[in-house]
Amino acid sequence: MPTITALKFGAVFFLFILFGLLTYHNYSQLESLKIPQTIYLGKIELDFLWQSPDYKNDTKSAEKQKNSPFNKGNHNGSHCDIDPNSRLDCAFNKLMNVKECQARGCCWIQVVSAANKTAPLCFLPSNYPSYNMENISPTKSGYTATLSRKERTLFPNDIRTLQLNIMYETSEILHFTLKDPENKRYEVPIDVPVVTEKASTQLYTVNFTSRPFGIIVQRKSNGLVLLNTTVGPLFYADQFLQISTSLASQYISGLGEHMTNLILNVNWTRLTLWNRDQAPHKKSNLYGSHPFYLVMEGDGSAHGVFLLNSNAQGYPIMPPYWSLGFHLCRFGYKTTNVTRQVVENMTRANMPQDVQWNDIDYMDKKKDFTYNLQFFGDYPQMVDEFHKKGLKYVMIVDPGISSSQGAGNYKPYDEGLKRGVFITNETGEPIIGKVWPGPTAFPDFTNPQTQAWWYENIKEFHDQVPFDGIWIDMNEPSSFVNGSINGCPDNNLENPPYVPDVTGGYLRSHTICMTGKLYLSSHYNLHSLYGLTEAIATHSALIKVIGKRPFVISRSTFPSHGHYAGHWTGDISSNWNDMYYTIPAIMLFNMYGIPLVGADVCGFGGAASEELCVRWTQLGSFYPFMRNHNAWKQLPQEPYVFSESAQSAMRKALFTRYTLLPFLYTLFHKAHSAGEMVVHPLSFEFSQDPNTWSIDHQFMLGEALLITPVLEPKTVEVSGYFPSSTWYNLYNGSAIHSKGQYIVLQAPLDTINVHVRGGFILPIQEPSTTTAASRGNPFNLIVALSNQGGARGNLFWDDGDSLLTYETGDYTEIIFRAKNNMLLSEIVHLNSQADDLHLRRVTVFGVPSPPQNVSVNGLWFSDFSYKLDTKVLTLQNLSIFMSEEFTIAWF
Ligand code: GLC
Repeated sequence: MPTITALKFGAVFFLFILFGLLTYHNYSQLESLKIPQTIYLGKIELDFLWQSPDYKNDTKSAEKQKNSPFNKGNHNGSHCDIDPNSRLDCAFNKLMNVKECQARGCCWIQVVSAANKTAPLCFLPSNYPSYNMENISPTKSGYTATLSRKERTLFPNDIRTLQLNIMYETSEILHFTLKDPENKRYEVPIDVPVVTEKASTQLYTVNFTSRPFGIIVQRKSNGLVLLNTTVGPLFYADQFLQISTSLASQYISGLGEHMTNLILNVNWTRLTLWNRDQAPHKKSNLYGSHPFYLVMEGDGSAHGVFLLNSNAQGYPIMPPYWSLGFHLCRFGYKTTNVTRQVVENMTRANMPQDVQWNDIDYMDKKKDFTYNLQFFGDYPQMVDEFHKKGLKYVMIVDPGISSSQGAGNYKPYDEGLKRGVFITNETGEPIIGKVWPGPTAFPDFTNPQTQAWWYENIKEFHDQVPFDGIWIDMNEPSSFVNGSINGCPDNNLENPPYVPDVTGGYLRSHTICMTGKLYLSSHYNLHSLYGLTEAIATHSALIKVIGKRPFVISRSTFPSHGHYAGHWTGDISSNWNDMYYTIPAIMLFNMYGIPLVGADVCGFGGAASEELCVRWTQLGSFYPFMRNHNAWKQLPQEPYVFSESAQSAMRKALFTRYTLLPFLYTLFHKAHSAGEMVVHPLSFEFSQDPNTWSIDHQFMLGEALLITPVLEPKTVEVSGYFPSSTWYNLYNGSAIHSKGQYIVLQAPLDTINVHVRGGFILPIQEPSTTTAASRGNPFNLIVALSNQGGARGNLFWDDGDSLLTYETGDYTEIIFRAKNNMLLSEIVHLNSQADDLHLRRVTVFGVPSPPQNVSVNGLWFSDFSYKLDTKVLTLQNLSIFMSEEFTIAWF
């Protein structure tokens, strides 16, 4: 049975629920997110019922309900006798009185229990019409059946007949679709695995109810119900879909992007998925949509439900090695000289830095693919200089293309207009919104013409300015006017019968009109895919232009984004609360298949105090993607602007990151080659320990490193949970033998607590201030012995930026194992890059007694030391070629 230990996408029990195939009429479908989804956690209504077992038997309030004066005379009688916690909303986001509610065939009962005050007053009766199932028959991959409904729902244009397809995709994945057999309808333009044969064994059983239709999925081993859609009627109308299920437990994570804890609140929580330019705050839909949830089942097992597909194209992208270094940016580096000075200051302060960035300041009047001749006149030379120092360079590109320069004055727009690359209105004119440069048109990245035009723009710009990666922002898409500068038509796309709880109240709030026409469909359907489609176009353009691994960081995301690009969490503020929320955000994006994720170190909006910025730099040193970025006109927050002691704390954290980069890079290889996550919640490693399930103040890098950051001001202590194991302080190897307990750790301002889990080996490297330099340094190994004296680890190594090195076999992989006082290496794969790798030092944590002798490849080795207090054995001044297998023994 898969538990979520070392979760892999695809290795957990995914249920793919694919609704689909609605015609060009733009319908709402849960799976496709063509309209925003509202998902209720708790006992719900709209799209999902998240019913936690704890709330099921609220008999007291049920009793009171019966006696409620509002219950009398309800025309649905006993069908309204539903526990308040199991109600499904029938008001659908509207205020409704008794009459209106009953007029739509629903129950209206005032809730009297304080505990249930958020339960809906107007709710679906238990006999609300749904679909019946007929003609169920086996297929090669599972079953097919017809669903039909006789009675209409309260939404217009019900699809009366549906085709159900159940596919036993793998032993761990059940996949089902519900489609309209009569009409070819819009589907999410992302390939999903084609299932041709039923998996020979399954971890799950599937049962149906036919009148009304329902599907019940259980875990075979213990009968636990994972999905049960019989808890409510199925809706499948032109612009409204609803499926409901109970949940196996209250430990639910996912359904981003929102500012939430790792574990979602299941008490009547409503989550709306609709990409929006929105500085993160609670209760708002944010930049991306990820309709995936993970349920911890209570015994260490877990399953996930995906309303589309988690890895349509395979696994996440392998990032270039340099992109794991430190990135520095801000909105407001106004000239090349200012930008040069930043790099100069970093170098002088001896701070590691790999990448310098510019925000929209470099542009001429904020227009894409231009640069300001007055302030950035020597822009190409500046980038060349950075390259000579071993740095890389990244700049922002926004999707909005200025439309007001006049014909002949701005090629990207003129050319785009000629080639029809923009999203158009009903009369075929580009929809004009407003972004940084003023009026802008929006490229339709679903159009192959646009992809070609985008590539040409990137190429022409790169011919002038030899940048190394692209930052794509404002791609929800964001517009400072709702809809367009000319408004939007009044129709069912702009004003659908059901509008989820989107910030701003309209689907077009802070974005373009829903009626916008794209090559593949309407903006109504494709809205939340805008950032993904831009990421795909940018990714493929960069491959052609640079010929190396593309580096793209995007604000807006959608499932499968991780295959093309990374993400940062947007416009968070420089405060302690926002810093904490970056931890669940980063864990969740790893679950969504986007391991290359980070948050603006020291915060974006507002002023970062020195203490906050030190603590954030320490935390950020363990983000998979680490960039310090700051908003316009805010106080500077580059490491070198702070006091000597603050700088030294930041330098220490940054050098620790650089030391660990071979380990981090290897984690990215595991993500790329096997779908593993880079950042792991503790619960994924210790799923049997309920104390870990909701921990989101700490996190792990891979299986081996536990990070316990300080997230509060004015403290030099931090309490962290240590699951049962031996944990070694990364810096000195002193051990904590935990039985699964909270431990208060010393956390002076210059230290972030990092512990290595017993049983793991970390390949690390002596750091330099750039990865270009550090990649040539000698390697060290940290061997953290388990209580049984064993450990394992591995190293993936290649040239760091060529395309498809793993796929073409152009890499080295070495496995390290420790057992019985011996450490061995095993070469799994070798290429010429390994010739330059030398092992200089081995540090073994947890050696119980002082060894008298040490041998390396059978020869006595005398340059070792042992610390009695910490039980750490160190071998130094080794000269071992990593390309040859070696054996080290101590006895
Ligand atoms: C958006 C981005 C922010 C950037 C700013 C200016 O707010 O989220 O990172 O600095 O635009 O381009």
